[in-house]
Amino acid sequence: MCGIVGYIGNDNSIPILLEGLKRLEYRGYDSAGISYIKDGIGEVIKRQGKVSALTEAVERENISAPIGIGHTRWATHGVPNEINAHPHYNREKSLFLIHNGIIENYLSIKAGLVKEGYEFFTDTDTEVLVNLIDRYIKKKNLSLFQAVRYALNEVEGTYGIAVLSIAEPDKIVVAKNGSPLVIGIGDQENFIASDVNALVSHTKQVVYLEDNEMAVIYKDRFVAKTISDERIEKEIHEITVDADEITKGGFPHFMLKEIMEQPESVRNSMRGRLILDEGLIKLGGLLGYEQRIANSNRIIISACGTSWHAALVAEYMIEEFCGIPVEVEYASEFRYRHPVIRKDDTIIFISQSGETLDTLAALKEAKRRGALVMGVCNVVGSSIARASETGVYIHAGPEIGVASTKAFTSQLIVMALITVLIARNRQMSQIEGVELTKAISELPEKIQEILELNDQIEKIAEVYKNASNFLYLGRGYNFPVALEGALKLKEISYIHAEGYPAAEMKHGPIALIDDNMPAVFVAPNDPTYEKIISNIMEVKARNGKVIAIACNGDSKIDDMVDHVIKIPTTHRMLTPILTVIPLQLLAYHIAVKKGLNVDQPRNLAKSVTVE
Ligand code: G6P
Repeated sequence: MCGIVGYIGNDNSIPILLEGLKRLEYRGYDSAGISYIKDGIGEVIKRQGKVSALTEAVERENISAPIGIGHTRWATHGVPNEINAHPHYNREKSLFLIHNGIIENYLSIKAGLVKEGYEFFTDTDTEVLVNLIDRYIKKKNLSLFQAVRYALNEVEGTYGIAVLSIAEPDKIVVAKNGSPLVIGIGDQENFIASDVNALVSHTKQVVYLEDNEMAVIYKDRFVAKTISDERIEKEIHEITVDADEITKGGFPHFMLKEIMEQPESVRNSMRGRLILDEGLIKLGGLLGYEQRIANSNRIIISACGTSWHAALVAEYMIEEFCGIPVEVEYASEFRYRHPVIRKDDTIIFISQSGETLDTLAALKEAKRRGALVMGVCNVVGSSIARASETGVYIHAGPEIGVASTKAFTSQLIVMALITVLIARNRQMSQIEGVELTKAISELPEKIQEILELNDQIEKIAEVYKNASNFLYLGRGYNFPVALEGALKLKEISYIHAEGYPAAEMKHGPIALIDDNMPAVFVAPNDPTYEKIISNIMEVKARNGKVIAIACNGDSKIDDMVDHVIKIPTTHRMLTPILTVIPLQLLAYHIAVKKGLNVDQPRNLAKSVTVE
């Protein structure tokens, strides 16, 4: 959460900062601000709300400055208003700081500074940090870099920060602990950002800072050090994301573009990884670890949000086909509840962004306890990917819409590949391997067929757009899909929705059913089908409205429900990759019809880098 960006070079920093902030807006959009140094004077412009409000204000001024920093905020400490917006600065307006993260001990630091005569004007933790740096500069006569370093040694919490000083206008000082920070290397110009998306239109060469590392960025070089002041050499990485991958490409919203991209994104997730005639899987990132994984006594999968739903589906897959016990854990609970972790456990962390703080912290804890730690991430070079011993990229391409769609289906593809890989190293026969790999390879066309039902789904959305509650029900592999369908609707339409295993309905949710309550049943042809039909009858007997996701050729369901969306059949293990697609479209259309901002729903952020 919160996006930071910075530029130093010969060009005008202002449009570069604004463009970068726009690209980082998925990380938070409560307020935005920039500061820059021009002719020895530091200025700040901030606005409450979206980056567009800031852009409007900045463009009126017609500014040009060769060095600047910018921030888009997801509020933690202090309401989302203009005063609390970053950058924060000291009393003399000679130091400017942007921050992604939380300074946990800010109150005690603030109390000390107040005693020394410092005044505070915002409710943020960040304002404390900029004044602490100011104090070190003045009291100890330190350079900017050393003052930042001293201040950070006093700080508990997480940060990705960038600091400007009018006394040293040839540099940006940056530091990282727990929040991501990337340096972009240009020709006589350098950049910093929370992620590579903000940099791709300027450079493909990046350096990832690690925790407890700092850097001084000049226009023609950078110097990296640890927070203990030891010089370090950093590797330069080449990024592969293209600028046109992060535009809407003619779609009204990123979310719709990303839903529609799924035939291609799932194809990319499986590309080069299926050996169809032998029913085998090749995953380069797991090379050398296959046996250890297949011999695990237990697999734990940990994640947050939509990625946690992918983990739940994977539990069903791995237990059925590999015969290894699987536990699925919310990363936030896992890291704090003293879990029993053994050295022969494999722990898989699923994360689209690869930056979710809880997931990263859980990973570090699992690693410390000696388990094999595997990352399943989308963002290449992300913190979770780098901290994992072994792992698989899902290759879904950049996902910008805050509600995750294509990352979910690609996570499921990768978890299916991992399942077959493990199972073929255990008891799965070649025949079954061939059957599954073939079924996986056929998914892109089947997803395409479902996307062609967009108009039908939009019509259903029209009928239910004013509902105030929704129930999503599924069984077996599709119970997690019910959870995901409900989450999508909640996130972007603000309609209360609950996902349940269909049989559990009798133990509570059935009390909610009346003739205003739509219930979405995920009812593909699988071993749970007959049971689901009974659950549908139970809802209909109470006058509930039923929308069903069923398979082509299932005519039995037609007369039982109010609306049916028919999808192609596939192997039972893979049904979630198809059944979720109508649910993504349903949530999307309902939110659009309600006039809501589907790409930036209120209160949410795509990358949650605070606890
Ligand atoms: C946020 C996003 C969700 C996402 C979750 C986990 O809540 O809004 O879409 O599923 O974080 O993110 P990750 O990047 O770890 O998959």
